Amino acid sequence: MDIIIDQPIDYSKVCIGTSITIFAALLVLSRLGQKLKQLVVFCWACFIKPLFGKVKQNKNGEQQQLLESFYQNQAHIYDNTREFLLKGRKECLKLAIAHLSKDKGKVWVDIGGGTGKNIEYMSEIYDLSKFEKIYLIDLSPSLCEIARKRFENKKIYNNVEVIVADAADFKIDYSKIDLITFSYSLSMIPTFHSTIDNAVDLLKKNGIIACVDFGIQSSDTSMGRINTLGGLVNRNLPWILRNFWRIWFEADKVFLDSSRRNYLEYKFGTIKSLNEFNYYLGKIPYYIWIGCDKSKSTKLLHRINCLATESPYLAPSEETQLEEYSTSLPISKGHEAALSNFAKKLPFPSIYYQQQIWRVYYDEICAKYNQFDNQYIYAFTWEDPREDHKILKFNENETVLAITSAGDNILDYACLESAPKKIHAVDLNPAQNHLLELKLAAFKSLHKDQIWNLFGNGKIDNFKNLLIEKLSPHMSSQAFQFWFDKGNATFNPNGNGLYDTGSTRWALRVAKYLFKFFGVSSSIEKLCNCNSMLEQLKLWNDKIKPTLFNPFVATLMVGNPIFLWKALGVPVNQAAMMGDSVLKYVIDTFDPIIKRSLISNDNYFYYLTLMGKYSKKNCPNYLSETGFQRLTSVNKNGESPIDNIRIHTDTLNDVFARLNKKSITIAIIMDHMDWFDPNGNDAHDEIVAIKSCLATNGRVMLRSAAQFPWYIKTFEKLGFKCKPAAIRHKGESIDRTNMYASTWVCTKVMDDPEHSNTANPSTRRRMSSLRI
Ligand SMILES: C[S@@+](CC[C@H](N)C(=O)[O-])C[C@H]1O[C@@H](n2cnc3c(N)ncnc32)[C@H](O)[C@@H]1O
Ligand SMILES: *[C@@H]1O[C@H](CO)[C@@H](O)[C@H](O)[C@H]1NC(C)=O
Ligand SMILES: *[C@@H]1O[C@H](CO)[C@@H](O)[C@H](O)[C@H]1NC(C)=O
Repeated sequence: MDIIIDQPIDYSKVCIGTSITIFAALLVLSRLGQKLKQLVVFCWACFIKPLFGKVKQNKNGEQQQLLESFYQNQAHIYDNTREFLLKGRKECLKLAIAHLSKDKGKVWVDIGGGTGKNIEYMSEIYDLSKFEKIYLIDLSPSLCEIARKRFENKKIYNNVEVIVADAADFKIDYSKIDLITFSYSLSMIPTFHSTIDNAVDLLKKNGIIACVDFGIQSSDTSMGRINTLGGLVNRNLPWILRNFWRIWFEADKVFLDSSRRNYLEYKFGTIKSLNEFNYYLGKIPYYIWIGCDKSKSTKLLHRINCLATESPYLAPSEETQLEEYSTSLPISKGHEAALSNFAKKLPFPSIYYQQQIWRVYYDEICAKYNQFDNQYIYAFTWEDPREDHKILKFNENETVLAITSAGDNILDYACLESAPKKIHAVDLNPAQNHLLELKLAAFKSLHKDQIWNLFGNGKIDNFKNLLIEKLSPHMSSQAFQFWFDKGNATFNPNGNGLYDTGSTRWALRVAKYLFKFFGVSSSIEKLCNCNSMLEQLKLWNDKIKPTLFNPFVATLMVGNPIFLWKALGVPVNQAAMMGDSVLKYVIDTFDPIIKRSLISNDNYFYYLTLMGKYSKKNCPNYLSETGFQRLTSVNKNGESPIDNIRIHTDTLNDVFARLNKKSITIAIIMDHMDWFDPNGNDAHDEIVAIKSCLATNGRVMLRSAAQFPWYIKTFEKLGFKCKPAAIRHKGESIDRTNMYASTWVCTKVMDDPEHSNTANPSTRRRMSSLRI
């Protein structure tokens, strides 16, 4: 619980500040001439009147009287003045509807519904006749009167009933409700504990509760329950801001204290949460929150754990005690967190209330996840999955673990006719996984053309609306916050699109500037539209190559470690493995690409870097017609290929440590071992960790900037048989990116001495004290 400051405010001090702000606000807003009168009434009622006379504490606690004195003489202008002040109301309703079950005969209660504006908004976004009944509950008779007039004799509102009653104890004809909404009312209800308890009793098991309101939060008020909150973007407000607005609003009997939202977050499971600012009168913090019944079945918890750890799922009966089946199997970090929350009577981590179970729990405040500045590095994946399949020949019995990157290759594997039965996508950077989640959600909810616009063109109209109305139910709250924050700018049709984001954008930008600087932009354009190899080679040799490979570019750009790291994501250790000359390496990379195949239709990697987008005949498989058909196909159990994907936010080692022994048959770890220090233990430790969860004869595929990477020896020492699948020689290409000097497959031929599969002893001890 937070401390609510209950002392009377020194209004004389607030008064001066208030007057200045009002004056400024008036000045700015008076441009809207005809609105001035409304504004004056609004300011009088909200800011001036409370300072005189009416602030006396009402002795008998009659809240209704107080409300009336506040609303009586502004009820008629209420809707116009609140249009901008009460932001996010429509978004909140849209979000609630997106998460609401599609059943017929639903009942909706809008608590503190005031003039009924919310119900009018709803009629614009949803067919009200899909509700069997809609109730508006409000304690202010004069606002309810406006609401009644609004609904009177209108057919679309014939299922709406307005009730003047207290939110804590209103009576309606239904004992269970599908949708409960609070729109800027919770902050005005003094008995918010009983109001929320009342909502808990009323909400159906699969019902949705939604709240949009002003409110302030700090990290201190969220401590100890971070994983229940559904993401921390914009949540912690600076001291000045939060106290200024709290005190300011208190004069109007609007309470921004954290305790109200905290209590909601305690009594319900959090499905989505957003922290936003309203810039109408300054930077006023508000939030949108969607929640649900917080109890979850033992079965579901157990199933999620098994999916994340690849342990066999043995359906428990509802009476089974958790420790009976958990002790013999690996426990995911999420499961540990869920049990710990359960013991403290907290709701489960927000991830447990999501519709999709792709995303595996991760502990957001861990420093290792926060080193990326809430941004991804790779907006596209720079490895050729066609070669992966040629080398590994995936079949449907395979369980694959691969690095997420931008998720392109994960989706490519899922598109295959013989797609692996399970795919674990791993990335330490949460934002890379947010990008994959966005792609998965798109395949669950969007049309082919929309998917193409998003990931083929990288641009789409009105991203925010799509996100709220279509994509949100298929995303974790964390991914939702990320894309709510950044998506509009990323996919802005007038901007540069998705592929101009992440650190990889620098590769695209620098290439573009260089081409411009050297006057070859039109040749590049032609290169991307060539119809024959002859034409392509001629363009390259006559126009483009002389530009790219001159000494100036070589020293300034390609030979520069800062550029290599910033633009290409090549760290120093890896650059060292490239051999004596980076320029030579680069020539060996590009020259053979031009000879390999047409950039215009068989090399979506270079096409993208040169054009900033894909074309329909030159794109990853998952964006093709067949890819779309595959990924959206549904089997007899109602599952699509993308439902076999698990997204882990963690280091590879931490993921390996929590996986069932011998459960993975293929691990594709890209070039990431190049990043290790040859004199350190990292490579050794990781190979040991991979080995323990790799099946006998399981394979590790890796790429390297060296033809013979030093850590191959380590693999061999630890019981692997290693074979190069491809080694790049001068003038040759080994795949369509040709960025790496070699591709290796290391097969586990020697098993470790048998270990039992038990969870580690400390976990077991902790678990046995919990019952669920
Ligand atoms: C800022 S208004 C919001 C009205 C409306 N939901 C909207 O979004 O326009 C807050 C509303 O909460 C209502 N309210 C305050 N305390 C209440 C209580 N104890 N029970 C029911 N309604 C209450 C007020 O009457 C007022 O209509
Ligand atoms: C996959 O496993 C099933 C059952 O063990 C087996 O019948 C089938 O042949 C396997 N498929 C491949 C491609 O190995
Ligand atoms: C999204 O971006 C576009 C273009 O920059 C802008 O016009 C629009 O207002 C933005 N929408 C939202 C909801 O932020």
